[in-house]
Amino acid sequence: MRSARATACSNIALVKYWGKRPDTDPDLNLPDVGSLSLTLADLATVTTVTPSDDGQDRFELDGRPLEGRPAERVARHLDRVYRAGGGAGRRPPCRVVSVNHFPTAAGLASSASGFAALSCAAAAAFETDLDAAALSALARQGSGSAARSIFGGFVRLDRGTRPDGRDCVARPVAAPDHWDVRLVVVQTTTGPKAVGSTEGMERCRTTSPYYPAWVETSQADLDAATEAVRARDLDRLGPIMEHSCFKMHAAMMASRPPLLYFRGPTVEAVRTVFDLRQNGLAAYVTIDAGPHVKVLTHARDAAAVAEHLRRVPGVAAVSVHAPGPAARVEVLP
Ligand code: DP6
Repeated sequence: MRSARATACSNIALVKYWGKRPDTDPDLNLPDVGSLSLTLADLATVTTVTPSDDGQDRFELDGRPLEGRPAERVARHLDRVYRAGGGAGRRPPCRVVSVNHFPTAAGLASSASGFAALSCAAAAAFETDLDAAALSALARQGSGSAARSIFGGFVRLDRGTRPDGRDCVARPVAAPDHWDVRLVVVQTTTGPKAVGSTEGMERCRTTSPYYPAWVETSQADLDAATEAVRARDLDRLGPIMEHSCFKMHAAMMASRPPLLYFRGPTVEAVRTVFDLRQNGLAAYVTIDAGPHVKVLTHARDAAAVAEHLRRVPGVAAVSVHAPGPAARVEVLP
């Protein structure tokens, strides 16, 4: 074993992943729908994996020791990468140090960049020759959205049909420089912690009467959005992106008990974007399993969109992100 450091950027889904394939091995973490994302510059996790010098796994996140369930999740993921790389017997104990470089509380989940960086750093540290597709499949097992953060720019993760999940890997659709768009991240004031994605999607799948409709209609969105990205057509992509987002939230809200991720300022920010559009600006929203709003717009309009959103009462911070690069890894001396 050697030491390696990986950097992976976060991503935002333009066509959403929500729900896991039933009747498959839960450890494979196979999505019930395909998704399309944009990897984001300036929202990166840097993870170093080195041999542990005291024979024990030691994990640290943002300067604090990682314990309990999050630490178990990391240990399990290291086991997966070790085995996938052909490692036999007991995995060597590791020291993992991970730092999130996100602008002041961007209010974004870091599991996508986190598991992507961990997969790449661990694969290099265990001296495996796993390629990007294999790394994406491994990252997916850590967190579904992480499969997409292995690649830069616009990335598509197909649902696949194989029970072993080998056809469920992300693929780049277009490089970061393909299209000069920006994602404006609008952080709204935070309330009590919302239900996490893993738990939320299972509740939605098992209780929401709209879940089957969500799954049935997602493939058409995915294909149409992929085409719109290739054609660099924001006024074609935008409505599909909003449709995917609001269908997902409708299915969430119809769960029992309901999953309501919006706060007041979430709705106000969405309305502001709708108003900007009335006035001729091409800007479209998406919202994940939380209260923050992300807005896709042309690079030339990003500053104006951000300025309007900063004035929305209850908005805490607004940051603007260009398409970001693929995950990268270096072997340390
Ligand atoms: C709403 O990837 O966090 O952000 O696979 O259970 O770890 P797990 O879920 P996660 O879910 C992301 C859900 C989403 C939409 C998306 O990113 O596609």
